[in-house]
Amino acid sequence: MCEEKPYYGYPTWHVLSNFFLGSLILIASIIGYFKINPLMLILIPPAIYFFWNGFSWMRGGSLEQKLKIREEFMRIVKPVDGELVLDVGTGGGLLAIGYAKAMKRGKVVGIDLWIPAMGGTSMETAVKNAELEGVSDKVEFRRGDTCNIPYPDNHFDKVVASFAVHTIPCKKRDEAFKEMIRVLKPGGTLALLEPKSDRWIRWCVDENLRKKLKEIGLRNVRFHPMTITYPKKRTVYVITGIKGVKP
Ligand SMILES: C[S@@+](CC[C@H](N)C(=O)[O-])C[C@H]1O[C@@H](n2cnc3c(N)ncnc32)[C@H](O)[C@@H]1O
Repeated sequence: MCEEKPYYGYPTWHVLSNFFLGSLILIASIIGYFKINPLMLILIPPAIYFFWNGFSWMRGGSLEQKLKIREEFMRIVKPVDGELVLDVGTGGGLLAIGYAKAMKRGKVVGIDLWIPAMGGTSMETAVKNAELEGVSDKVEFRRGDTCNIPYPDNHFDKVVASFAVHTIPCKKRDEAFKEMIRVLKPGGTLALLEPKSDRWIRWCVDENLRKKLKEIGLRNVRFHPMTITYPKKRTVYVITGIKGVKP
């Protein structure tokens, strides 16, 4: 019997681009068959390849890579027993569940708006993943906006996020940073895993970001490079900082 595995969602753009390419090639092959040459049907196998690729990523074919990313993240931002941790934009609960598993005592909260088609997870997925990973007693999930976090000031020891902040529209990102730092206890750690840059959505891990985080109240802001193969080989960054005593 097959043991049920947690489902931590998929890389949306990668899935969409596979489906887009598959459709494009399929249409070219059908039009080519009728208008150019019956041999154009030779394009059908590549079209099937792209559809298959898209479906297998959607079904959670990336689990192994996601677990590796979580392990590497937690090697850089070590769990501390007894802490209260917040995972924003938690999706299927990848980081929240990872920290809960690593602590004997302590509590982790995962918040998300579970925006449709952004990673393909839901609160139900996250709750089920926590059950499958055996940490339902230490982790809880609730609907909440990163730009208006439903917790009081100075509440959490750590605020973490993976691939969540860059998905927030650029005009609202400053609010999200302020909120994440607001709910951190003085001396607490903020840690964000994000891509290096993306021109389309105006995201960049650079000196401007460091300056902004310092202005909002973080000190010791550091960028830790991490090479991942999700969904392709690339370098991403774990951005860490400590909340100053007087933000
Ligand atoms: C790319 S997914 C990453 C999910 C998860 N952290 C992971 O690494 O598997 C981004 C997540 O951020 C969530 N999200 C986007 N904007 C948000 C906001 N303003 N507040 C809370 N969650 C948000 C989306 O619903 C989605 O679940």
